[in-house]
Amino acid sequence: MDTSTDEVVTELPVLRTEVPGPNSRAVFKKDQSLLAAGNSAGSLWSELAIRDGRGAMIRDVDGNWLLDACSGTVVMNLGHGHRGVADALAEQAGLLTHFYDFATEVRVEFLETLTALLPAELDAFHLANSGSEAVEAAIRIVRSATGRYEVIAFHNAYHGRTFGALALTTGAGREGLGPMMPGVTHSVAPDPSWGRGMDDSETSATCARHLERLVKQVLTDQPAAVVIEPMQGAGGMIPIPGEFLRYLREFCDRTGALLVFDEILTGGGRTGRLWTFEHSGVIPDILLLGKGIGGGFPIGIVAGPRSVMDAGPGAEPTHNSSTFGGNPLACAAGLAAIRALEREELVENAAKVGAHLIDGLTKRLEKRQSVAEVRGLGLAIGIELVSDPISRSPAGGEFVRDVLLGLLRRGVVISSTSHVVRITPPLCLTFSQADFITEAVNSTLLELERSS
Ligand SMILES: Cc1ncc(COP(=O)(O)O)c(C=O)c1O
Repeated sequence: MDTSTDEVVTELPVLRTEVPGPNSRAVFKKDQSLLAAGNSAGSLWSELAIRDGRGAMIRDVDGNWLLDACSGTVVMNLGHGHRGVADALAEQAGLLTHFYDFATEVRVEFLETLTALLPAELDAFHLANSGSEAVEAAIRIVRSATGRYEVIAFHNAYHGRTFGALALTTGAGREGLGPMMPGVTHSVAPDPSWGRGMDDSETSATCARHLERLVKQVLTDQPAAVVIEPMQGAGGMIPIPGEFLRYLREFCDRTGALLVFDEILTGGGRTGRLWTFEHSGVIPDILLLGKGIGGGFPIGIVAGPRSVMDAGPGAEPTHNSSTFGGNPLACAAGLAAIRALEREELVENAAKVGAHLIDGLTKRLEKRQSVAEVRGLGLAIGIELVSDPISRSPAGGEFVRDVLLGLLRRGVVISSTSHVVRITPPLCLTFSQADFITEAVNSTLLELERSS
């Protein structure tokens, strides 16, 4: 088949075969025979092999155009095949790909551009190759700067798979790996599974009481940092109420801990604001970015005040160096991505189309027994699936898998596999594409509810 990228791209799915089709299945099978186990369940369930993409559409190796409702894994915020990023990468690759962490003009330009978009306090940067690496660097930085070791994280948190990041993470993935990094304690975060029906003030007060008790009973009173996602992503697309973030700001100011916001999943426009902290107005001491901020190229960023970033023994020469962190390609891609976000008004689009999509899903899924709640900010949306509308216990893995496969058959791709279905399409999503997602989710759930 002809899969040249010049072929006319459609706005909505066009299916030539069943999905996954025969070519996808063949590539998937070969790929699996070479890869070690442990890839994402979404990739394993879907058996899809993808060739290219444009905007919010991707094309599989059978020539089916599919609507990307996940941005890969919340990375392709600009959409696929973005010319600006592709050209910037090609140009930079022809100039310089790597020279350790020596200064480059492109890095200066990238960081100056980023600085202009951040609060004045966040004026020094550490660059890494992934979100997890940024989290690791942040742990080193807060311990070095404060001379303390305790880090407070939260239930339902996801911060990555390297050992420090994994220690801050809760949930599956830590089994059988032995002891985690010491010095980490998890406190309770606002969560609809226990806070349904409570207002934000009540949930925030409950969480604050829990943290104060932890500090008295379990921790020293000398925490180095509090690390939180201002909107929890993998843990269930839960926006953390402003009240609780304001309490954490006060807690950190009182105890001398540094407040770290992990916006690796949500930073860069995903929630309809450039940075998620803008929703609450709470400015962290340290901000972590990754995923979409590199326009699809791997990157991780720690931003903080120079007084913190340069403090303590961890700031000695070479102690934070990295072979690839801050490399010219990542900086060129990041610079092109930030410019595109602004030029193409994608943050505004995420706010507008996101509100339309949340509204559409909420109304359309109102009668679906398997749906407890649609929640989100901008184009960071979660649909909470339950096995029973009365007990509201989470939907089982098989049901969640059938939802993913039902959507795929309708030409809509998601990659999340928890009972909170994550809808995080590229920020260039159109209103028609949003409506297509709504109808596909509704008809998939209707079909599954009828057959169960
Ligand atoms: C909030 C958050 N932090 C950290 C990470 C880890 O990033 P990476 O997978 O790039 O290491 C993720 C990845 O999903 C994330 O969602």
